[in-house]
Amino acid sequence: MVSMRPALVTGGSGFIGSYICRALAEVGWRVHGAFGRHEEHVPPASRIRSVHVDLARSGSIARVLDSIRPHLIVHTAAMSALKDCEQRPEMARLVNTKATADLADWCRQNDAHLIFFSTDQVFDGSEGSYSESDPPSPIHVYGRTKAEAEERVLESGATASVLRLSLVYGPSPGGQRSHHEQVLLAVRQNERLRFFSDEYRNPILAADVAAVVVELAAMEGLGLLHLAGPDRMSRVDFGRAILRAFGHEHVDFDTVTLAEANMMPRRPPDLSLDTSRARGLLTRTPRGVRDGLGLLAAEESRLA
Ligand SMILES: NC(=O)c1ccc[n+]([C@@H]2O[C@H](COP(=O)([O-])OP(=O)(O)OC[C@H]3O[C@@H](n4cnc5c(N)ncnc54)[C@H](OP(=O)(O)O)[C@@H]3O)[C@@H](O)[C@H]2O)c1
Repeated sequence: MVSMRPALVTGGSGFIGSYICRALAEVGWRVHGAFGRHEEHVPPASRIRSVHVDLARSGSIARVLDSIRPHLIVHTAAMSALKDCEQRPEMARLVNTKATADLADWCRQNDAHLIFFSTDQVFDGSEGSYSESDPPSPIHVYGRTKAEAEERVLESGATASVLRLSLVYGPSPGGQRSHHEQVLLAVRQNERLRFFSDEYRNPILAADVAAVVVELAAMEGLGLLHLAGPDRMSRVDFGRAILRAFGHEHVDFDTVTLAEANMMPRRPPDLSLDTSRARGLLTRTPRGVRDGLGLLAAEESRLA
């Protein structure tokens, strides 16, 4: 148990950040969960306090850092909707790149530890099985702003880990943020489901991401690290697995290719990640989709 040192979790009101707030508080960190617009999504717990920050404004970030003086910053907050980033590239650059650079600089100057959340979307998806030595090749604004943020962190001289995450699933604050929730919601509302046949990811359970962060928080910065589940899956297979785990295997769905869906911006097809480096360095390893979804379904029927 660490001794009540202060940690700042940006995006403490977000899907993944809310898990990280709880997990760090459980091992003894005094957690400050930062929110932008949704204070009510910061988990209520005795060792978690909510704090407002506007990541688009350096002054707001500086004020929060100077009042909390965190030993650890877990930076999960981001503008992560692809379409939103295309429509407001300057805001995406401020929130995703500039704010990250500000946090990294503060960590270097104040000897604090930074764990920064990046994404598999820094790749163009033409190859798949990407390792940390593959150069980023982003094809949209979101990917570019995150790739630039990674660079700023890695060049800052701060003690840092940069986690490139794959698709995350699990219950979220608000109940609609994660992919598995959206599938189940569509089933409940009798909406027709549609899954991509040629988009590949390695889904990872949100609780497993948080467990890795707890382990990383007690280590030195590890630099760039791919964090993903062991199963490389198409969206169709993941959708099918979700339906099966929750007893909806009879539900029919449409299958489309990314080209047929013709989305703006274009989405990278194969974003599967090679996670050998993380497996070699960490004791906590993310579970497979079958176990992860099984756990969620069991939890749901226990609460029903
Ligand atoms: N979810 C995934 O499958 C996935 C996959 C790969 C990588 N990632 C990365 O993992 C991280 C967390 O993702 P997530 O799914 O948890 O995101 P999320 O649920 O969309 O949460 C985003 C968080 O960022 C905060 N935020 C956004 N703009 C802000 C601003 N201007 N000022 C202050 N806070 C702001 C939001 O606060 P409010 O809601 O309070 O406004 C929210 O807490 C992101 O960096 C993302 O790029 C996620």
